[in-house]
Amino acid sequence: MSNLYAEAYEQSIQDPEGFWGPIAEDCFWYKRWDKVLDDSNKPFYHWFAGATTNTCYNAVDLHVENGIGDQTAIIYDSPVTDTIKKYTYNDLKEQVSLFAGALAAKGVVKGDRVLIYMPMIPEAAFAMLACARIGAVHSVVFGGFAPNELATRINDAKPKVIVSASCGIEVKRVIEYKPMLDDAIDLASEKPQSCIIFQRPQAQATMIDGRDFDWADVMYQAAPHDCVPVAATDPLYILYTSGTTGEPKGIVRDNGGHMVALKWSMSAIYGVSQGDVYWAASDIGWVVGHSYIVYAPLLKGCTTIIFEGKPVGTPDASVFWRIIAQHKVKTMFTAPTAFRAIKREDPQAKLMGNFDLSGFKYLFLAGERTDPDTLSWAENSLKIPVIDHWWQTETGWAIAANCVGLHQFEVKPGSPTKAAPGWDMAVLDGDGNPVAKGDIGAIVAKLPLPPGTLPTLWQNDDRYKSAYLSAFPGYYETSDAGYIDDDGYVFVMARTDDIINVAGHRLSTGAMEEAIAGHPDVAECAVMGVEDQLKGQVPLGMLVLNAGVKRDQADVVKEVIQRVRDRIGPVAAFKTATVVKRLPKTRSGKILRGTMRSIADQKEYKVPATIDDYAILDEIEASLGKIGYGKKA
Ligand code: COA
Ligand code: AMP
Repeated sequence: MSNLYAEAYEQSIQDPEGFWGPIAEDCFWYKRWDKVLDDSNKPFYHWFAGATTNTCYNAVDLHVENGIGDQTAIIYDSPVTDTIKKYTYNDLKEQVSLFAGALAAKGVVKGDRVLIYMPMIPEAAFAMLACARIGAVHSVVFGGFAPNELATRINDAKPKVIVSASCGIEVKRVIEYKPMLDDAIDLASEKPQSCIIFQRPQAQATMIDGRDFDWADVMYQAAPHDCVPVAATDPLYILYTSGTTGEPKGIVRDNGGHMVALKWSMSAIYGVSQGDVYWAASDIGWVVGHSYIVYAPLLKGCTTIIFEGKPVGTPDASVFWRIIAQHKVKTMFTAPTAFRAIKREDPQAKLMGNFDLSGFKYLFLAGERTDPDTLSWAENSLKIPVIDHWWQTETGWAIAANCVGLHQFEVKPGSPTKAAPGWDMAVLDGDGNPVAKGDIGAIVAKLPLPPGTLPTLWQNDDRYKSAYLSAFPGYYETSDAGYIDDDGYVFVMARTDDIINVAGHRLSTGAMEEAIAGHPDVAECAVMGVEDQLKGQVPLGMLVLNAGVKRDQADVVKEVIQRVRDRIGPVAAFKTATVVKRLPKTRSGKILRGTMRSIADQKEYKVPATIDDYAILDEIEASLGKIGYGKKA
């Protein structure tokens, strides 16, 4: 049966240029493209080659020129500071052009990098847009990462300027950002020329003379800066994400393709129009925040919400309903873990009854698979479509979704519905052959990827090819495994690498193992993601100590936990580890993490035929039992 989705999907695959070209007319270009898709240097593809544009112009100035300057662009809702503040598109233009001027005064020019390490305050969005305005490349680092992770990103991006704030607020705790930033700069081999610090009343940052500048001072002195035309293919931002080693991958996003895909997605996927209020309850440090707190809603001329709080505890489990009702949110986007947190505090959803949610039309969930329990709880209590959709930092927008703006399909629990237009998906076996419908395999996307997806990794074309394009030539490897059913519904079941998903945050167990391995008493270790009712997964460490270590094992465990917190950050949520005599391995020496995970989760597992010593699994079971996993000892 034909519908708008089927027509769009078919055209996007058969004739990508014919599909995306007309969609791109919805954006402003200083110069139109020579070619919608330049595929002259495969496997690198460039969308809207030859065009020049400016993402900030499209997200801010264009709306002012089109007469909606008085419409609210950003609502800052911060229950942790008891603040609600609104910025119109006129206000946004003023703030962004001034901060662009401030960056320019610090010597930032087109192509320079600016690192942004900030909490959920509007100034973070102003800084991102100001970079886009002058063609600088921003790299936002999530506040929950430790100085060491920040230093790695500083070394790779080599920012001329770093923008930060004196502190963030985690429920009731004030987290000072400036000392972490100072530590990171000390650790980094690449030093920024200047830092601009937004001083918040909750903490006063100590400034380093000559290097650090107060946000208020630089804004006071700045002259507004106009938009600078950039090539559609120029980088807009770098966003680092966990890879399979301790070295994060610098995902690059271009200007043109990104703008086109995101603006289109607002109506096609999320069903919103200019003027609607759209709320993504995430953090600007994650891709969801980049795409759906900042860029997409503003490109579409919507009102976006910057929420500084948590789904529970700020002040309670009704905060989502209060915000939806008070600000008249039409579409909301968050991670399933947020709903699990609310459900745990208010299982009967009684708090919802206190609010008028009649304007609320769609709830979108992503970041991890929406488990059927959370799905049915949200559907039954909200009585609106609850839509799981699947994407990655690399893709920038949904690979599979129920595109409600095109056609609303029936929801199948556990599935993010069908491939979005532009995504030619396949499921392959280890040899690269398609598996039968319904069979599990590696989920891949045929090249070229649609606009808005990563064109490469920051200054690392080789790693881009080896990490994503080499396992299955001609395809992008998502590193997710799953299946596609007879109706074309995609089911994403697990990662095929060492990435785990903790409260919707993507983390590498390999990176945690690297941090632990540096402890002087640890001979070897394994970290795996075990099931957690609230966060979906949490990391669990198994440690083998060096021969002759006589110290109290509990002390070593404590130090190892602190080490991960210090090196990766609190966001890793690494809180449990246990000492074992040895780790189960294959005869070739590969640690059987999957088998240990199954034991911890009390799942059926097959003892691998290649295991070097069967008895060890009983020991592992007993050790896990002592810390509350697997069968109790
Ligand atoms: N700056 C500093 N520390 C931060 C931080 C930040 N920006 N963000 C998180 N942290 C810290 C937290 O304080 C916590 O530290 P703790 O171990 O000392 O308590 C740790 O990092 C883990 O944080 P978080 O993952 O947020 O867990 P939580 O237990 O505080 O809250 C949820 C759990 C489910 C309520 C929360 O993860 C959540 O709201 N998630 C859904 C929305 C979301 O962020 N999705 C992301 C992608 S869409
Ligand atoms: P991130 O890059 O942080 O957005 O994490 C991307 C990864 O999160 C994906 O590769 C998946 O493993 C997982 N993920 C995100 N959304 C979903 C979803 N809707 N269903 C299943 N897994 C998801």
